[in-house]
Amino acid sequence: MLNKKIEKALNDQLNMELQSAYIYQSMAAYFEGINFKGFAKWMEVQAGEEQEHAKKIYDYIFAKGGKVTLEGIDAPKTAWKNAEEVFKESLGHEQAVTKSIEKIYALARKENDYATEIFLQWFITEQVEEEDNATSILEKIKLLGANNSTSMYLLDKELGARA
Ligand code: FEO
Repeated sequence: MLNKKIEKALNDQLNMELQSAYIYQSMAAYFEGINFKGFAKWMEVQAGEEQEHAKKIYDYIFAKGGKVTLEGIDAPKTAWKNAEEVFKESLGHEQAVTKSIEKIYALARKENDYATEIFLQWFITEQVEEEDNATSILEKIKLLGANNSTSMYLLDKELGARA
């Protein structure tokens, strides 16, 4: 059985992951709209990963005999100044996700919920990669210049290779 506090925290995290998928899908739509197909593809893959994160939590709640409660998802932002602004926000979002996961991890420790603690370890490791991905793309954009069309063309090609 899941204790109610943990169940609520996991449901909130499930919502946050779905919210993340929605945000990244909106970023994909923004890039698609300005013909940055590679950036759009990268964001599409990211949105798909967020749905997988949500599903992991969904399955775990059921495996522990808990109740899944889906809630509303806020409409995401739809326009940005340029790719640099998108990745700045993407990094900020991932940092917020990391904090949220860590909070649940601390709660699981406090409640002596060892299974949830172990379950969340995957997410803690994943967040290191999530923040690293966003940081390294943001740094590249800053280095190349978000308004330099040749550089952005090349980066668009590189990001489009994400499988
Ligand atoms: Fe599921 Fe990007 O955090």
